[in-house]
Amino acid sequence: MSARPDTDVATGLPSPSDDVVHVDDLRMRYGTVDVLHGVSFRARRGEVLVVLGPNGAGKTTIIEILEGFRMRSAGTIEVLGQDPATADEAWRARIGVVLQSWRDHGKWRVRELLQHLGSFYAPYSTAARSRPLDTDDVVEMVRLREHADQRIATLSGGQRRRLDVAIGIIGRPELLFLDEPTAGFDPQARRDFHDLVHRLSDLEGTTILLTTHDLDEAEKLADRILILAGGRIVANGSADQLAREVSSRAEVRWMRGGSNFIHATDDAAGFVRNLLAHDDGEVTELEVRRASLEDTYMTLVQRHETGRRDETLAGFGGPTR
Ligand SMILES: Nc1ncnc2c1ncn2[C@@H]1O[C@H](COP(=O)(O)OP(=O)(O)OP(=O)(O)O)[C@@H](O)[C@H]1O
Ligand SMILES: [Mg+2]
Repeated sequence: MSARPDTDVATGLPSPSDDVVHVDDLRMRYGTVDVLHGVSFRARRGEVLVVLGPNGAGKTTIIEILEGFRMRSAGTIEVLGQDPATADEAWRARIGVVLQSWRDHGKWRVRELLQHLGSFYAPYSTAARSRPLDTDDVVEMVRLREHADQRIATLSGGQRRRLDVAIGIIGRPELLFLDEPTAGFDPQARRDFHDLVHRLSDLEGTTILLTTHDLDEAEKLADRILILAGGRIVANGSADQLAREVSSRAEVRWMRGGSNFIHATDDAAGFVRNLLAHDDGEVTELEVRRASLEDTYMTLVQRHETGRRDETLAGFGGPTR
C-alpha cells in the first residue's frame, strides 16, 4: 500500500500541501435520485481546473456545494481549510463566485454595484492581499468601461455576463468558481476572458475552478481537466494525459504529387523520420495530429454511457460483460 501523496510517510499525518480544494467521496441525492456517486478530487493553489460533462452531469451541483450554497448528502470537503457547510464570513470573503445563472440588481448601475459589493470585502483586507480590487480596474478588465454608468437591466446578455465575472473577482479571491462564465461571450470577450484567467492564476496565484461546454476553451485554460459523467469523475488529468489515455495513436497527414495521404501510428516521430528519409522533396503539408480534446471527451463520455446501457441491459436479463 502506498501513502497518499499529501501524507507524510513517516507520521501518516497530512503534510503541508498546496491543496486549496479537497473533495473526498462527495455524494448528493435530490429526493430519491442520486446525482453524485462519490466524487473525489483536489485543486492546488494557482491551478486552473476545468470541469467538463454533459448537461445534468452534476457540475453545478459540485460547484454550489463547494461554494457553501448547497448542503451535500455525504462526503468530506475542505475548501481553503474549512468545510463550506459551516464556514464563516471571513472564509466567504476569500472566494469569488460566478453562478451559472442569476438575475438581480437590475436598477443598479455597473460601477455603482461593483463599488458597493467591493466595500463588503474591505474589512477582510490583509497585508498580503488588499481587498477589494479597484472598481475602475475591474471595469476595464472585463471591458465594460463604456457601460460603467448604464443600468444593469439594460445590458446585453454578454455584457451582463462580463459584469458577473467582474462581481466574481472584485473581492480579489484566492479561489474563484466560474460556472459557464463565457456562455454568451463574443470571440473577443472570450479571448479577453482567457487572458484574465491566465493573469489571475499566474500573477495572483488564484485557484480557478471553471465549467464550460466549449472544449477548445477547456484546452486553452486548463492545467487539469475533470470529466464528469453520470455523477462520477471518468477522467482527471491534463488534456495531453487524457488524450493518451484514450489512444496513443497519432495521425500523420501529408501531400505528395497532388494527393493526400493519412497514416495512423503509435510512433509518429519514427514514421515521419522514415517518410522524410525516403522523400525526394515531394512531401508537403506534413502534419501530425493527436486526438483532440473533443475526440477524447466523446470517447470517455460514450464509454461511460455504453457501460451504463450494458448495466441496464444486464438488469433486464440482457448480455453481461
Ligand atoms: N434542486 C434540485 N432538485 C432536484 N434535482 C436537481 C436539483 N438541482 C439539480 N438537479 C438535478 O441534478 C442533476 C445535476 O444537475 P446540475 O445542475 O448539477 O448539472 P450540470 O452538470 O451543471 O448541467 P448543465 O451542463 O446543464 O449546467 C440534473 O439531473 C438535475 O436535474
Ligand atoms: Mg450547470
